[in-house]
Amino acid sequence: MSADVIRERYDAVPYRHGAVSDSHPARVGAIARLLGINAAPPDRCRVLELGCGEGMNLLPLAERFPKSEFVGMDFSAKQIAVAEAARAACGIGNARFVCADLREWKPEGAFDYVIAHGVYSWVSSEVRDRLLALCAGALAKNGVAYVSYNTLPGWALPGGVRKVLLQEIVGIASPEAQMARAVQVLDSLAECMKDQPGSYAANLRDTLDDMRAKPSGLLFHDELAAVNEPCTFTEFSVDAARHGLNYVAEAHYATMQSAHLPAPMQSALAPLQLEFARTQQFMDVLFQRWLRNSLLSSAPVSAERAIRAGVIADCALGLRMTVDAGSISLTPGSPMQFKGVHGLVLEAREPVEKAVLTVLARSFPERLPFPRLCAMANQSLADWGLPPVSDFSALHDFLHRLFALDALDVMLCGDGEWLRMNATPGLSTLMRYQAQNDFPLTNRWHEPVALTPEGKRALIDPSSRADEAALERAGLLV
Ligand SMILES: C[S@@+](CC[C@H](N)C(=O)[O-])C[C@H]1O[C@@H](n2cnc3c(N)ncnc32)[C@H](O)[C@@H]1O
Repeated sequence: MSADVIRERYDAVPYRHGAVSDSHPARVGAIARLLGINAAPPDRCRVLELGCGEGMNLLPLAERFPKSEFVGMDFSAKQIAVAEAARAACGIGNARFVCADLREWKPEGAFDYVIAHGVYSWVSSEVRDRLLALCAGALAKNGVAYVSYNTLPGWALPGGVRKVLLQEIVGIASPEAQMARAVQVLDSLAECMKDQPGSYAANLRDTLDDMRAKPSGLLFHDELAAVNEPCTFTEFSVDAARHGLNYVAEAHYATMQSAHLPAPMQSALAPLQLEFARTQQFMDVLFQRWLRNSLLSSAPVSAERAIRAGVIADCALGLRMTVDAGSISLTPGSPMQFKGVHGLVLEAREPVEKAVLTVLARSFPERLPFPRLCAMANQSLADWGLPPVSDFSALHDFLHRLFALDALDVMLCGDGEWLRMNATPGLSTLMRYQAQNDFPLTNRWHEPVALTPEGKRALIDPSSRADEAALERAGLLV
C-alpha cells in the first residue's frame, strides 16, 4: 500500500484523537531520569511529534508550557489545517505545524522529546525505518523518544478479525459505507458470542467490544487501516538498535515490572535464564500484550538498570488511591488501608508512609511537588506529636514502589510554575475550544476527560452554572 493512498485516507477521514497522557514530557522525563538519563525539564524543552494528526496531543502541552517549543508534523494537509486553526484560535505561539512526508522531511535543531503515537505499526516498513532514523537524528544528547506500536502475540486475535473485516469491505468504495459494514459485522459477531462459554469466547468478546467502542473514524484507521503490522518487542528493539536507539523503559511504567510476576511464574521462568529484554518479551506472551509505548534514547541505560529513586525529589506526585477519612491514624504500628485501581489494597503502618499517603490522597487530583508534600506530611506528623521525615532515601524508594504499582503519577517538575493554579481558576482557552468544537477534551494533567457533546456544551454555556468542585476534580480548572 503506497504512502499516498494512506495520506488520502487521512485526508478523507480525520483521526480525531485526544491527548496521550503517557507521552507527556514530564512523565517521560521522570522515567528517563529514574534510569539515569538526564532528560530535559518539561517547562524548558523542545518537543517534536511525528504523525501528529490534528495536533490535539501537542496543543495542550504547548498551552501548559509556554517556555517550551513544540513542532508537529503530518502529511495529511486536512489534519494539519485543523491543528493550525486550533493553534491560531487559541493564540498558542510556541507550537508550529508542518505538512510534510516522513520519508523526505528533515527537522531543524535537536529535540528533547520526540513523540510518535500510532504511527510505527500503521506505515510501510520503509516509512517505519525512516521514522526511527528521524527519531535518532532529531534527538538531543539526553533526548527521549516515545514510540507506540501494536505487539504480538496480543494483536494476533484483533489482527485476525481485522483481516476478516478487510475482506468484508472489498468492493465498497466510500469510507462511510466501509465503516458501516465493519460495524454491522462486529455487531453480528458480538451477538453470536454473547453467551458462549470458555476463554476463547471471552477473549473474542473483549476484542470485539474494544473495536465496537471506537468512534468510527478510529475504526477506519485502526482496524480498517491500509497498513497495520504488529511486531514482537524483540523485533522492535532490534529495529531501534539498528538506528543507535537504546530501549529505556515503557511509558506506562507499571506494565514493565517483572518483579510483580507471581512467585510461581518467576520460578517457572527461572530455568530459561531470561535477561531484561527477553523477560519483557516473555511478559508480552504471558499477558497477551497488544500495545507498547516504548521509550528510546541514544543515551545508554546502565546494564544493571539501576533505579535512581532520588529523582522523585524533583517530581510532582499524584496518588491514585483513596483512604476512608475515619481510618486516619498516624500512630506507629496502627494499620491504615489505601485502595487503588484493579483491586490494589495497600496496608501502611509506618507513620511517615501513612502521613505521605494521606496528604496525597486528600490533595488529589493535585500533583504535589515533593518538597511541598514533605512539608504537608511533616505538619500532619507534628499534629500527631511525631517526628518529621528524616530518611528521604527510604521515602523515595517507597514512592518509587508505588509508581511501579501504577498507584502514583510521577511528573518531572521543572520550576514547578505550571503546577500552580491561576488566581481565578477556569477552563483554559484550549479546553474551551475543544468543548466548543467537539474535540476530545484534555485536562490539566494531559488526561482525556470523557464527556458527551451536550456535556461539553454545558461546560461553556454561561447560563448553565458549572459545578466548580466537579470541574476541579476532573482537572478542568487551570
Ligand atoms: C493512526 S494516526 C495517529 C495520529 C496521532 N498521532 C494520534 O495518535 O492521534 C497516524 C498518523 O500518521 C500520519 N502519517 C502516516 N504516514 C505518514 C508519513 N509518511 N508522513 C507523515 N505523516 C504520516 C497520518 O496522516 C496520521 O495522522
